[in-house]
Amino acid sequence: MRRKLVAGNWKMHGSLAENEALLSGLLAGMGGVKAGVAVCVPFPYLAQAQARLTGSAVAWGAQNMSQQARGAFTGEVSASMLADFACAYVIVGHSERRALYGESDELVAEKYAAAQAAGMTPILCLGETLSEREGCITEAVVARQLDAVIAKCGVASLARAVVAYEPVWAIGTGVTASPNQAQVVHAFIRARVRALDAGVAAGLIIQYGGSVKANNAAELFGQPDIDGGLIGGASLNVEEFLAICRAG
Ligand code: 13P
Repeated sequence: MRRKLVAGNWKMHGSLAENEALLSGLLAGMGGVKAGVAVCVPFPYLAQAQARLTGSAVAWGAQNMSQQARGAFTGEVSASMLADFACAYVIVGHSERRALYGESDELVAEKYAAAQAAGMTPILCLGETLSEREGCITEAVVARQLDAVIAKCGVASLARAVVAYEPVWAIGTGVTASPNQAQVVHAFIRARVRALDAGVAAGLIIQYGGSVKANNAAELFGQPDIDGGLIGGASLNVEEFLAICRAG
């Protein structure tokens, strides 16, 4: 049985003071949460997350990283730097990175490989835009994004990864994929992995992301192939996020 994983993606939000309130509230409210819980914070706050969360039930991670190991790459952050702060997770291929920073499937696969090489679990984001959904190519898009990683790292690498299906049209819009719409794509992703390795497919955590809130989380997480969520806006409100964690 897969354990659900609820991860907050804070995106470019927070301050030392705001984070302290959020993290202390989260730690105080974790009783009764059965799902795994993590927060993916901005780089400058990794030390704060590590100091606050070490020894707790809440894991932490980053939202992006460089595919390069080190060198003259001004402004970039490497996998080994994230590992220095004991990050368990790093998000790779978030749609905001793909759309706003031009990250290709191949670049995302390189980041995924570098994260695993440094001992972290990549949270690999997949998802279609609204026009791709309307063009009935959702499965083709998600398959292409997934296949790039499998081509580079092999299907067995997914035993050390998390996948997040995040339809772009549902991110930050308040429009959630219906539980059935999401389940169809999650089942597609799992079947594609199963065709290569049934054991890896059975154990693969596939999160849903896109306007998950306290009032829709339980129904989404109740679908057979939805193993928790990657939460944006609602992860910044401690009561809302805890309610989502309890739904997992
Ligand atoms: P929202 O929950 O704000 O829609 O964001 C989802 C997301 O992008 C998580 O990575």
